[in-house]
Amino acid sequence: MEITRENQQKIIDIIRACGDTVRTAHDVESQDGAITVKPGAANFVTAFDMKVQNMLIAQLSALYPKASFFAEEKDNDGACFKDAYCFVIDPIDGTTNFIHDMKCSAVSVALYYDGKPLFGAVYDPYMDEMFHASVGGGAFLNDRPIRVSARLLDKALVLFGTSPYNRDLYGRTTFDRVYNVFMKCADVRRSGSAALDVCYVACGRADAYFEDILSPWDFAAGLLILTEAGGKMTSYKGELPKAGEKTSVLCSNKLLHSEMLQLLNK
Ligand code: IPD
Ligand code: CA
Ligand code: CA
Repeated sequence: MEITRENQQKIIDIIRACGDTVRTAHDVESQDGAITVKPGAANFVTAFDMKVQNMLIAQLSALYPKASFFAEEKDNDGACFKDAYCFVIDPIDGTTNFIHDMKCSAVSVALYYDGKPLFGAVYDPYMDEMFHASVGGGAFLNDRPIRVSARLLDKALVLFGTSPYNRDLYGRTTFDRVYNVFMKCADVRRSGSAALDVCYVACGRADAYFEDILSPWDFAAGLLILTEAGGKMTSYKGELPKAGEKTSVLCSNKLLHSEMLQLLNK
């Protein structure tokens, strides 16, 4: 199954318009009822997450009337990943950054077909950076083809996530792993957007990224962008992510992968 260039462009245009809603949002914390709390530590959802998700579902279902939707701010049936067409959506990845006006968030959309990624796009509306890839078609940042880096560990910039909503379970292990990696690489960074972290490895800005637990919408689009850019994503056990399941995630330029796995499992 392939996706036409025309449909890729239509999906990109829809995501870009949603990004405008994110970029132009103001005073998120001061609007009555704009923020609600979800289960887990410091796990917030804003009225803008809901607005962007509703916009995406309405416009993407006009384009693919038979598609299912697996999206962060709705109830989901994981079985929909096996449907002919299934969109996997994180309307705002980096909600805590968004609430704090940190200007580091993204809209992330993947299109799966028969359980396999067909197309993925991650849009940073603040930088106007659209990362996208189609299966077999390569990965791009706006119109420019992208490729992972060729750096080895001692020169590597390594990104990590803190699994903030599950800090009781993963807080200690995360920072132990960060210490082990930090002692071997050039430096570490924490952005607050998993979707952008994966794309930054894909375009060679960073050389690896890891996080103890992510949900499918955090990495579904990034996974295709990274693999099309020559990179690799596995769990900490070295297994490929399974469609629709939560997992630990290690992304790398491939060259660092086995050394990083050893450090993460030390
Ligand atoms: C979160 C961000 C964050 C990562 C968390 C994710 P959200 O997504 O990607 O960087 O550390 O694990 O859940 O909640 O902002 O969409
Ligand atoms: Ca997310
Ligand atoms: Ca989100």
